[in-house]
Amino acid sequence: FAELLGTEALCQRVKIFATDVDEGALSQARQGSYSLEDLEPVPADLREKYFERAAARYVFRHELRRAIIFGRLDLIADAPISRLDLLACRNALIYLNLEAQRQVLDRFHFALNETGFLFLGRAEMLLMHANLFTPVNLKHRIFAKTPKVNLADHLALLAHGGEADAETKTSQGVWLRALAIDAVSVGQVVVDASDTIVLANELVRARFGLSARDVGRPLRDVELCYRPVELRPLIERALAERRPAGVANVERSGPDGQIRYYDVLVTPLLEEGSRPLGVAITFTDVTRYAQLRAELERSHSELETAYEELQSANEELQTTNEELQSTVEELETTNEELQSSNEEMETLNAELQSTNEEMQTTNDQLRSRTDELDRANTFLESIVASMEAGVVVVDANLAVEIWNRKAEDLWGLRADEVRGKPFLNLDIGLPVEELKAPLRECLAGNGGPHRLVLDGRNRRGKAIRCAVMCIPLAGTDKRAQGAILMMEPED
Ligand SMILES: C[S@@+](CC[C@H](N)C(=O)[O-])C[C@H]1O[C@@H](n2cnc3c(N)ncnc32)[C@H](O)[C@@H]1O
Repeated sequence: FAELLGTEALCQRVKIFATDVDEGALSQARQGSYSLEDLEPVPADLREKYFERAAARYVFRHELRRAIIFGRLDLIADAPISRLDLLACRNALIYLNLEAQRQVLDRFHFALNETGFLFLGRAEMLLMHANLFTPVNLKHRIFAKTPKVNLADHLALLAHGGEADAETKTSQGVWLRALAIDAVSVGQVVVDASDTIVLANELVRARFGLSARDVGRPLRDVELCYRPVELRPLIERALAERRPAGVANVERSGPDGQIRYYDVLVTPLLEEGSRPLGVAITFTDVTRYAQLRAELERSHSELETAYEELQSANEELQTTNEELQSTVEELETTNEELQSSNEEMETLNAELQSTNEEMQTTNDQLRSRTDELDRANTFLESIVASMEAGVVVVDANLAVEIWNRKAEDLWGLRADEVRGKPFLNLDIGLPVEELKAPLRECLAGNGGPHRLVLDGRNRRGKAIRCAVMCIPLAGTDKRAQGAILMMEPED
């Protein structure tokens, strides 16, 4: 208390009555003096805070000590101290017989406020009577006062009064039932015919905001009556139809904020199958199934999506396949066309090869003719070159074709300077215009040779007389194709 309230508030607001039947025990308690061994279970910081060192012992602090009133009290014989908020009793009831224990528990029930708590030692646990007190925390053995004592249980207890063995069995049986109801994993609330909550097990208390103090209150006064589901219509239906009425998958967020799902079932409790004594309301946690169902639905929807995607992919594939088929057909057509073109090309190639061969043959023949011609030409040139007279050959247009070495010597022009040029325009030391007439005669086919002697000058400027013979150059058809001029200086 001091830790929660602070020392000052504790002294103002809290009174602790410490009682025992034995004066010696009381006197020892009043001293509040403990050995270190006695205080072993007390944490060191609390020990330093609330005890003062006196020699080898620890003494409870004086100012806090004033909150405690020590007094002799016989649990069996004396009137109990009343209106208590908390009653702690440890290792005392075990010294009493069963009857005395029952009386003391009745007194404890009386001594406590309606909202009071009872805190017991381990030894008292098995003696507890569930109808007077409702477990709040079994591990720490804390119980709440049950405000209304159920008449039936009272009668049952009275019926067993005086029979020590039967009392123990009843007490243990009731206690075991309470433990068993708390231990099940289904939330359970029992409501009697007058709408009073008779029982609320551990799971309901932990998850639906019910406390031990709500036992004995009307159901309509607690939130559970309306949330997470309206219980009244279900109760009325169950009682009217005399069979369980329920609703599945009711959502409820717990104190930890986690959303849970419950199947709520209201079962009518019928006396010998007829008169309704009340109803049992169960809350079965189906969160796991709801989660599984949600997962299943999610998987199902994912599967559907995947299936749709697959279908769409399939359709796309079919389209692609059709396109591919059409492309293949086009390619086949193109291939056929290419094959036909290829065949045509092969034919063309064969024809070209044959033409080529023919041309090669022609070429070979031409080459051979050319060689022959070259040889004849060379032969002719050598004849012309070796002649002592200057020899000039002109064509039908009187352009120079042949101009031999002697002509070069005579007139000072080289063959490459005059070849292709009109003979009558050449500037040489010979009056070439006088040769115009005989040359025309030769070309006209009027016989020959035409002889004449001309005065001229050689390349050195020396005056010379030159005998010129003009001979027609006959072709294969006997017609003149040009003329041959032979020029020989006279001595
Ligand atoms: C084992 S001691 C327990 C002391 C203390 N509660 C504890 O747990 O350390 C039992 C105490 O019960 C007291 N006692 C026995 N009969 C009693 C009675 N009828 N009324 C009150 N006290 C009684 C005894 O005097 C004794 O001090």
